[in-house]
Amino acid sequence: MQTISSLDIALLERARDLAVRLAEEAGVIQREAIQNGSAVHFKGEIDLVTDADIASEKLISSGILAEFPDHRLTGEEGAIGAESGDYRWLIDPIDGTTNFAHKQPHWAVSICLEYAGEPVMGVVYDVAKREMFTAIAGQGAFLNGVPIHVSAETQLKRALGSTGFSYDVHARAEAFALWEAFSWHAQAMRRDGAAALDMVWVACGRLDFYFEKPINNWDVSAGAIICREAGATVTRLDGEPYNINDEQIAASNGALHQQMVDLIRQTLHQ
Ligand code: IPD
Ligand code: CA
Ligand code: CA
Repeated sequence: MQTISSLDIALLERARDLAVRLAEEAGVIQREAIQNGSAVHFKGEIDLVTDADIASEKLISSGILAEFPDHRLTGEEGAIGAESGDYRWLIDPIDGTTNFAHKQPHWAVSICLEYAGEPVMGVVYDVAKREMFTAIAGQGAFLNGVPIHVSAETQLKRALGSTGFSYDVHARAEAFALWEAFSWHAQAMRRDGAAALDMVWVACGRLDFYFEKPINNWDVSAGAIICREAGATVTRLDGEPYNINDEQIAASNGALHQQMVDLIRQTLHQ
């Protein structure tokens, strides 16, 4: 098995360029759908999927598999690729579907390429704002081609944070406790409704930290590599190393990480 440092950069650049093109093409579908409306279906009581999610995932997954037929692939709406292999794509065709269904201009296409459990290439496209966030392991993180970096804030009391809440309302008790604790101790908290954008906003310094549990890997894995490449620290909520199969993530500018993890631990008595 290759180590990450010896990965084929040419393959990762090809993968990034493909992901950027497919995210832009999905964005065309999504801008048209938000103008004209897109049928909404319910996956659960409050968990939505629109026709635009399904059409976007089909476009992205078929585009990837045409170029990388031997790669594994997991799409939120059910797309799958090869059965085995070290490379796996993780696709969230619309992260922020509830915003999208309510015509709020805050949602994204998220595409990650994982190698043996580690995110190595990520693209997050904020369709309404036309902001393309990209990263390849070891090569830095970019917003519309310009390098980005995390904030320099060192005090939790001056820090702007974000989180989100599971569609399973019965799994929200910890998240509500953390929301309250951080609302007391941070400068302010946001719940903007698109985890992929929360992650890349940490990467570019618009947020100082973000955490969420439970969360799926298609929501945050592209954001995780973009964050890391922008200088962020990315772990589990208890501060242990983030694994792509953990259903939780905590990202910060690094300077605030210990303060964030300490408050999470105190609140959850971990
Ligand atoms: C959701 C959003 C939301 C987060 C949820 C996710 P979806 O993804 O990222 O911000 O709080 O946990 O499931 O359903 O809009 O793709
Ligand atoms: Ca999502
Ligand atoms: Ca989604």
